[in-house]
Amino acid sequence: MPNKTRDKETRNKGRTGDMRTPAQRYTSMARYSSAVYARAANLLPGGVESNFRHMDPFPFYAARAEGNRIYDVDGNEYMDFLLSQGAILFGHRKRQIEEAVSGQLRKGANTAIPTELCATVAEKISSYVPSVRLLRFANSGTEATMHALRTARGFTGKDKIAKAEGGYHGVHDYVLWSIWAPKMRGTEKRPKATPISKGIPKAISKTVVVFPFNDIEATYDILHKERDNLAAVITEPVLANVGCLVPRDNYLKELQKICNELGILLILDEVITGFRLARGGAQEIYGVKPDLTTFGKALGGGFQMAAFGGRKDVMTDLLSSDDSWPPKKWPTQTYHAGTFNAHPVSLAASAAVMSLIADDRVYSHLKKISGMLFSGLQQLIDDRRMTAHVASCGSMGHIYFGADEVRTARAAIKTRWDVLGMWGMECLVRGMLFGHPKGEKMFVSTAHVPEDIEKALEVADCGFDAVGT
Ligand SMILES: Cc1ncc(COP(=O)(O)O)c(C=O)c1O
Repeated sequence: MPNKTRDKETRNKGRTGDMRTPAQRYTSMARYSSAVYARAANLLPGGVESNFRHMDPFPFYAARAEGNRIYDVDGNEYMDFLLSQGAILFGHRKRQIEEAVSGQLRKGANTAIPTELCATVAEKISSYVPSVRLLRFANSGTEATMHALRTARGFTGKDKIAKAEGGYHGVHDYVLWSIWAPKMRGTEKRPKATPISKGIPKAISKTVVVFPFNDIEATYDILHKERDNLAAVITEPVLANVGCLVPRDNYLKELQKICNELGILLILDEVITGFRLARGGAQEIYGVKPDLTTFGKALGGGFQMAAFGGRKDVMTDLLSSDDSWPPKKWPTQTYHAGTFNAHPVSLAASAAVMSLIADDRVYSHLKKISGMLFSGLQQLIDDRRMTAHVASCGSMGHIYFGADEVRTARAAIKTRWDVLGMWGMECLVRGMLFGHPKGEKMFVSTAHVPEDIEKALEVADCGFDAVGT
């Protein structure tokens, strides 16, 4: 817990020393970023490369990162709890990862010829996550879920996919449905597919079935009705893209039972949770054995790397027994390819990550530090009698402002994201990047130590003071 006297001083300094709004302070501390933004926005919509990175009045541009800090082009230093949207588990520039990558760079970049590293990393993944008997590599979480869905469709011969309302699985057309739309279609118990982007063909809505995470009866009814058409159910184990919505009442185990009973494949999207929550991912923690799993983020240690894999019979479909070219029978396989798949430089980083996570101290440290942060935040909130709930799971967490407890995606979406954004901005101008100020959840790395958390809580408290709900 933060020291109360120092707390008060920091707060007073924040109040009396500087009467400007956070936006005004931000604008004056990020002048060079503002100039870069003017150039970038000339050519890149919003001056960014991913819609989520856009922020008001302009984003700050990173110059470098080290340990748990990011330094921007103006020289400002931020303690980093965004951690590359969860991809960084060991802090920036982890020596072992950097050495592995630079060693591989000296051997050349991509050849599009398989490397031994593929086998090495695949062996590790399969040993840590036993449900993964066969796997393939990809470059991003989006690719991993896209390929996993095609594999499920190829195996079952069925077209429809069921996804949880509030679940995010990347940006391809099959999954960009029913995530954060302000007005979701259908009712909470009978949600209807709601697109969250323009440009998705309407025809695809016919392939998407949506179910309410954490409501097992409604989930059963929906899946039962569609059982003959569904190739797969895809879900994040913890809905980490509407904050941090943890499964309740054995929801994941029950979901697996339903899928088994109805003959539907279960795909667990562990792009965020894989190797972060535990060595064996969320499936280890919640005791589920999905048919297929997708990985990304932490797997690459900051480099582009993803994978999908699972049951041997399902994954075997990726290759046909007919290897002639062009194939005589067609289509006999589920196609998966990519010039940069299993990029050796990224794989070298993955191999280093796989070795690092073999050490139990990684997870005990993350548990301790995350506990300090998330319980410390809740304590500050409770001390102020604010209505806000800190939801967390392992080394990721989120503050739901304006709510005491959140169980469903619709409830998560209705919480005060505007207050979260204001609080995030108040903290950002004090050098604390608590996730994306716009509302990304927080992540913790092994590079965070107790003194960092003390400092973070002091700043968080100034932020609470400023938003004061
Ligand atoms: C659960 C989940 N799946 C898939 C993705 C997509 O991954 P990427 O951004 O690497 O395409 C994300 C990204 O945040 C994610 O959180």
